[in-house]
Amino acid sequence: MSSVGEKIGNTELKMPEHIAVIMDGNGRWASKRGMPRVAGHNAGMKSVEEIVRTCSDEGVKYLTVYAFSTENWKRPAEEVSGIFNIMVLYIRKKIRELNENNVRIRALGEWQQIPESAAKSMQYAMDQTKDNTGLVFNVCVNYGSRREIAKAVSSMIRDYQAGEKEMPPAEEIDESLINSYLFTADLPDPDLIIRTGGEKRISNFLLWQCAYSEFIFSDVLWPDFGREELLECVREFNLRHRRFGGLDKK
Ligand code: FPP
Repeated sequence: MSSVGEKIGNTELKMPEHIAVIMDGNGRWASKRGMPRVAGHNAGMKSVEEIVRTCSDEGVKYLTVYAFSTENWKRPAEEVSGIFNIMVLYIRKKIRELNENNVRIRALGEWQQIPESAAKSMQYAMDQTKDNTGLVFNVCVNYGSRREIAKAVSSMIRDYQAGEKEMPPAEEIDESLINSYLFTADLPDPDLIIRTGGEKRISNFLLWQCAYSEFIFSDVLWPDFGREELLECVREFNLRHRRFGGLDKK
């Protein structure tokens, strides 16, 4: 079912401006089928394709996915290299379609430190799509939110020490200054964060940015999560009352 023109009661379904996703459950999806974990990540890539297409078609402005965390290095080498190979293949296969659909892809995190072929491929995808003005598709790679915040503080101090900027008085260190040093500096905070796969935790994802996000935890394993499952989350999001710490408008 299309969301365009879809109504909830008397009001039209509104797409969130920024959706972020913790794509969990690939390994379990594969195990249930007696397949290796990498097969689950391969199947998960199909879901990525469908969710990018849906967000682009439905006018979502930003989609941010958690593709590889700073903690994921603890996984077996074979699985880690499998995930990076899948990223390279995705870019090779999809770059044309991303451009045709005006999608801009960006990597967030310390992505330069991933294996060279994957980092090069990410750089290529970013260069090729940098002028696109439709959906911004952020891929968090080698991303960890605590590290992001620590790095922001350290870069800020380094800038002052290097004389790049004048040291402000301590009371002027505020939220917007710290925000400007995060990987997400030029992005609005996510309106909706979805985690698939049944676990209910945030796993070091967008800790600063999620202050007022709505959370939806879905039991669906990521490879089974497609357009309809996303729209179901959007319907639920439309029923939430966001007050950002204030009161409902009368
Ligand atoms: C979580 O499932 C999934 C991951 C850690 C990796 C997902 C990455 C991709 C599908 C590639 C994304 C690439 C781009 C370009 C967007 P899990 O393995 O933790 O599942 P489990 O909890 O069932 O074990």
